[in-house]
Amino acid sequence: LRQPIIAIDGPAGAGKSTVARQVATQLGLVYLDTGAMYRAITWLVLQKGIAIDDECAVAQLATQCKIELTPSHNLEIPVRVWINDTDVTQEIRTIEVTSQVSAIAAQSAVRKALVKQQQSWGKRGGLVAEGRDIGTHVFPDAEVKIFLTASVGERARRRQQDFTKQGQPEVSLEQLERDIAERDYKDSTRKISPLQKAADAVEVETDGLSPSEVAMQIVNYYQKCV
Ligand code: C5P
Repeated sequence: LRQPIIAIDGPAGAGKSTVARQVATQLGLVYLDTGAMYRAITWLVLQKGIAIDDECAVAQLATQCKIELTPSHNLEIPVRVWINDTDVTQEIRTIEVTSQVSAIAAQSAVRKALVKQQQSWGKRGGLVAEGRDIGTHVFPDAEVKIFLTASVGERARRRQQDFTKQGQPEVSLEQLERDIAERDYKDSTRKISPLQKAADAVEVETDGLSPSEVAMQIVNYYQKCV
């Protein structure tokens, strides 16, 4: 019998990661950051000097690489991400990777390889998976589906705080808003598994709410459903 799955989808910077980790910690479930996987492949493509639009070479990398995520239940410690035994936990959060990841995530071979991996990790359930296509595509039978949103301005402010916390160079709010809007556009208009609210997902608008407040709403909702 499969344990329950919570699917959390939504646009860039809606607070999915923080919220998903808090929910996982509170309910004793495993946290799965699927965006980190697309980011890791993007990092590898850039590092190998492969052109982003060289779909054959990218496909080959995506089907042959080994991605590992070490779960962390301590909210202060980031989940570590490895690709082919290289720790890329920090490298996958740079502006370079962030600006190219949507183009990599739009490629069908990449999605096929990663979704397969995600579904095999999720076979027994017991996880909170976060991404863009979890409720619609990866785990369409998830017991709880959440679609997190927030205004572009709010999401840019949150990203700026993340960068500051990570000690990354300061980026202006205008720049962040442009980047976020562009990534939203690419992610929601791509042909394969675009970012979309699943018909049976509950939408949570998070402007003005703290991550703990959002996590509490989800935990309450989960306890009603499961
Ligand atoms: O969530 P995060 O911002 O780390 O995701 C990075 C990118 O990975 C997204 O902008 C999207 O292009 C892609 N992604 C995806 N499907 C997922 C998770 C992330 O296409 N399930």
